[in-house]
Amino acid sequence: MTVRHFLTLTDLDSNEYKQLLNRAIELKAMQRNGEIYEPLKNKVLAMIFEKSSTRTRVSFETGMAHFGGHALFLSPRDTQLGRGEPIEDSARVLSSMADCIMVRTFEHEKIELFAQYSSVPVINGLTDDVHPCQLLADMQTYIEHRGDIQGKTVTWVGDGNNMCHSYMHAAKLLDFKLNITCPQGYEPAQAFIDEANSHIELIADPKEACENSDLVVTDVWASMGQEEEQELRIKAFEPYQVNADLMKAAKTDALFMHCLPAHRGEEVSADVIDGKQSVAWDEAENRLHAQKALLEFLLVS
Ligand code: CP
Ligand code: NVA
Repeated sequence: MTVRHFLTLTDLDSNEYKQLLNRAIELKAMQRNGEIYEPLKNKVLAMIFEKSSTRTRVSFETGMAHFGGHALFLSPRDTQLGRGEPIEDSARVLSSMADCIMVRTFEHEKIELFAQYSSVPVINGLTDDVHPCQLLADMQTYIEHRGDIQGKTVTWVGDGNNMCHSYMHAAKLLDFKLNITCPQGYEPAQAFIDEANSHIELIADPKEACENSDLVVTDVWASMGQEEEQELRIKAFEPYQVNADLMKAAKTDALFMHCLPAHRGEEVSADVIDGKQSVAWDEAENRLHAQKALLEFLLVS
């Protein structure tokens, strides 16, 4: 039997993605109603974090607890993986004990190699290339606030990073238009542009890119692993701050999202992220519900 992994959003087809989002909304209502639902009793999710995390760790751990299972936090500081044990060996061993493995790491190739040697589903909790779990939560949040996203316009402002790449995947799968506005030299990777070509437009001017937009999204200017580029990036990214002035270019009822953690005064002004168009807090909470839907999809037949 082939094992189903979730390494990028495109591991789902459009229907599966939509069904998963509907299920996330249902699971959220069930939890709100105090319903006990434990489909993963006695199951274990192992979580390897080679980068820091608040939301990803807490949402997966909490989700597994709600489902009657258990989650293990594994840091490279305390495991043999951190001392150079090969990825192939770690994957074989961990997957012989755990029922599912979540990995947050640097190079995307590492998670692909891990998945190749894992006998259980592997979930991408963020790589340098993509952040697919976040796009489950973001799209759930949009649907809850505004309904179907098909045919809408979304604007990505800032770095053409892992989050931007996953938005490009989502645009294609859910059929929305994605405007991308980045400083020169910080555009998304060409392979992702080629893949999503039919659904994206690169627009250098941030105001023009936000025109007619239903959703404006941004992320940090320097991602994890790029800390030493922070100063250099601040200069290049300054015109790309999402502030009240930029939000005015979008539709009056446009939503604002940010995967968090946010740097107020850099990629977003405080009045926008803390303002009434921001749904960043629902977006963060939905990591829990959306990933429960994902765990159920991968582990409950
Ligand atoms: N958005 C997100 O993935 O947050 P963490 O880095 O806190 O997990
Ligand atoms: N682009 C950010 C997302 C953090 C959740 C990073 O990779 O650090």
